[in-house]
Amino acid sequence: MSSPAAAKKVHIATFGCQMNRYDSDRLAELLAAHGYALAEDPASADLIILNTCSVREHAAQKVYSQLGALKSLKRRRPGLIIGVGGCLAQQEGARLLENVPHLDLVFGTDALEEVPALVDEAVRGRRRVHTPRPRRATLARTSVAGPGELKALVTVMQGCDNYCAYCVVPYVRGPERSRPAGEILEEVAARVEAGAREVTLLGQNVNSYRDPAGVDFPELLRRVAAVPGLWRVRFTTSHPKDLSPRLIETMAGEERVMEQLHLPAQAGSDRVLAAMRRGYTREQYLAKVRAFRRAMPQGALGGDIIVGFPGESEEDFAQTMRLLEEVRYDFLFSFKYSDRPHTVARHLKGKLSEEVKARRLQELQVRQRQITLAIHQALEGSVQEVLVEGPAKRGQGLMTGRSRAGRAVNFPGEELVGRLVMVRIEQGRVNSLLGRVVTDTTREV
Ligand code: SAH
Ligand code: SF4
Ligand code: F3S
Repeated sequence: MSSPAAAKKVHIATFGCQMNRYDSDRLAELLAAHGYALAEDPASADLIILNTCSVREHAAQKVYSQLGALKSLKRRRPGLIIGVGGCLAQQEGARLLENVPHLDLVFGTDALEEVPALVDEAVRGRRRVHTPRPRRATLARTSVAGPGELKALVTVMQGCDNYCAYCVVPYVRGPERSRPAGEILEEVAARVEAGAREVTLLGQNVNSYRDPAGVDFPELLRRVAAVPGLWRVRFTTSHPKDLSPRLIETMAGEERVMEQLHLPAQAGSDRVLAAMRRGYTREQYLAKVRAFRRAMPQGALGGDIIVGFPGESEEDFAQTMRLLEEVRYDFLFSFKYSDRPHTVARHLKGKLSEEVKARRLQELQVRQRQITLAIHQALEGSVQEVLVEGPAKRGQGLMTGRSRAGRAVNFPGEELVGRLVMVRIEQGRVNSLLGRVVTDTTREV
């Protein structure tokens, strides 16, 4: 390994979901052991890696435009190595190398461990593509050290077996594989040791987590929540078809498991849900929502909605709008349908125009903002437990943190980073709550 003074630098740009952020941390760790220090600024880096997403056309385009922007940097510094990893790399493989002449390296979602060796080959002038198909048997041991941050992400499972009609994830991330619970617990403990107080467990569908020893997700949650020194546990994402009463009981019963559930519906009409191959009806979805609300009335429910799925009629869309009224989501991510490679939906008839999709998305988002604002205003006067993260990005002189339900809370205060405080809410806004600290309840670790 090189001496610190001579250390090379790597800049990693991460696109897409939290699972990619986790992989980027792991990659940084692998490359650090190989003599590459992290660089904030791509202009000063010897190696630039884009960890990519392919979930929607727009996500893929962002990667291509970033790659285009790197062309002149490469021209000025021919020694610079540029690599592309993650879901778009897995999807495109050798095509990426053919289409982007200034690219040196393409690696897939199941090839992180090989990256240091591939980089060495690229340095020696050999352009490489390594995108092995993710297999059920291969689940690389992931990070145990991790960066010293207050909030840690820990991937508990890889891949997805659901094959929703619109989704590329099973093709680029491979089949579902659960990490052994013992390994996850070790990793969480190491992150707590390094300063983490909150952990978010990640998977495309954590409800179908089952490790080789038979530990299921509620049991894993219970064990993670018991790790000494850890204050808060969250998780994402839950597939509605697999959300069990036991999981809801565990969430409600475990003090350290936060009352926040991300439960994507995708659509409000049974016809569209069936075409999407989601495996539940509107009513089955609503029954799960009611169970969550009953068990955790203070909790927050989130969702994802796709508008403009092929064949979605005005009446189907109206049913999605009515779903918003019935569920009253605390937070919602919404997207225009986009055709993805390999998927069933790309071959369906009844594709909708960009105009129709844009109009529906706009209508949905306007209504959801009103709902979120009303929910936040109803919290005025309440007292929320907040884990303080640091200065608020946009609030001058304000600190920010998250409530148990995951809402952003801003308040005046200093030197409270890493503490759990009680904040009285004075104003509910669309994107945050504004309040004042009433007590500092920081627990002993
Ligand atoms: N595993 C998660 C979703 C991961 S992808 C789940 O099942 O809930 C994140 C979100 O992207 C999805 O919930 C969906 O709303 C959206 N999405 C996926 N494919 C899409 C496509 N082809 N077009 C538009 N949105 C899509
Ligand atoms: Fe995609 Fe469906 Fe799997 Fe989620 S559950 S990752 S939407 S295939
Ligand atoms: Fe994107 Fe891959 Fe995540 S496609 S959403 S980065 S699993």
